[in-house]
Amino acid sequence: METLIRKLDGSADDEVIFREAAEWIRRGYPVAFPTETVYGLGGNGLDPSSSRAIYAAKGRPSDNPLILHIADREAILPLVREIPPAAQKLMDAFWPGPLTIIFRKTDLVPRETTGGLDTVAVRMPSHPGAAALIRAAGVPIAAPSANASGRPSPTCAQHVYEDLQGRIPLIIDGGECEIGLESTIVDVTGPVPEILRPGYIGLPALRSLLGTVSVDPAVLGKPDEKTAPRAPGMKYRHYAPQVPLTLVAGPDEKRAAHILQKAQEAAEKGERTGALVCRETLPYYQAEAGDRLLLIPLGSRNRPEEIAHGLFAALRHLDECGLSHVYSETFEEGPLGAAIMNRLRKAAAFDLTDLSELQPSGAADAFTETADTSAETSGTFAETASSFTQKGENNG
Ligand code: TXA
Ligand code: MG
Repeated sequence: METLIRKLDGSADDEVIFREAAEWIRRGYPVAFPTETVYGLGGNGLDPSSSRAIYAAKGRPSDNPLILHIADREAILPLVREIPPAAQKLMDAFWPGPLTIIFRKTDLVPRETTGGLDTVAVRMPSHPGAAALIRAAGVPIAAPSANASGRPSPTCAQHVYEDLQGRIPLIIDGGECEIGLESTIVDVTGPVPEILRPGYIGLPALRSLLGTVSVDPAVLGKPDEKTAPRAPGMKYRHYAPQVPLTLVAGPDEKRAAHILQKAQEAAEKGERTGALVCRETLPYYQAEAGDRLLLIPLGSRNRPEEIAHGLFAALRHLDECGLSHVYSETFEEGPLGAAIMNRLRKAAAFDLTDLSELQPSGAADAFTETADTSAETSGTFAETASSFTQKGENNG
């Protein structure tokens, strides 16, 4: 099948594109569309065969549930059994926007869409193109990120094309996604709201709205039997470039020296190394990098939104550079930094070299510091614990 790319220009002509896309969706074909987070691959969320077509196009395991996207608040009513008070607060504060909420589903929502679960994820995106598509289709749009399974989520139409050309009829091109990381996911079906996936809306904002909020331990560490992630999609290999990636934590100069040393060793074997670095530390590398170390600047670490915006494009780029190994700096786990580090840890398959002299203690980072500690959060994060505070420690 030929994959057309249709570019939105903000004019009245865009309506033609949304009508064309809605027609494909009615016929059961998924189409890619922009949102403020990442591109989605949308189909009719109430039609089991549309959901199957989405899984097939992505090559995604069908036990991994899809998010239902709505354009109008009332559209949620037929989809969910109840709207708990915490959910109502979240919707009032953050919709439309980069927040997905997990509810108990009604029978209207097919299990093909929810990966067999009794719950359903719902999000109301703020991107006008996404809202226009949903309204044109006239149904809730089930949409995972529009990447091939396992690849970083697409943040521009070209990324979607690279992954899905020939598999879908249409990509609506709305330019680069503003945020660049997927939505925050909060589950409100239990007694305490729980973050299943960190995103642009961070823990401090959620806590100031809801009070107690817990964090799925799988968000912080490598999933094992004790920390099987509550969002099924978080258990899969994800974001991973083909080239091995190692995160390096520690003081700037020491870290740069380590990465340069690794690049030197690789160069002696005729190999080239890459490094994901921030603008502030670039000078530590530049003088010595030469040809053996390809520097990929991610933006300023004082502006995590900049790092988030370009992260997936950088991860995609790595595989085109003929590198044998890539190292990445770690970033402070502030509200958005926690989401950045969550994606980076997965991309690195949790491979971390920690050069810090002092291991961080209780108050080391904003994400875990304020995390509510429920009994089930005392899992083991041994493999990644050194770069951030273990919630188990906070638990005492
Ligand atoms: O920003 C986003 O959320 C993007 C855009 C397109 O909206 N979508 C997205 O979808 O990231 P996807 O399918 O790549 O990730 C959805 C995540 C998966 O980890 C999935 O397991 C989880 O949401 N999820 C969906 N429904 C769930 C449910 N009922 N319970 C727990 N986790 C759920
Ligand atoms: Mg995804």
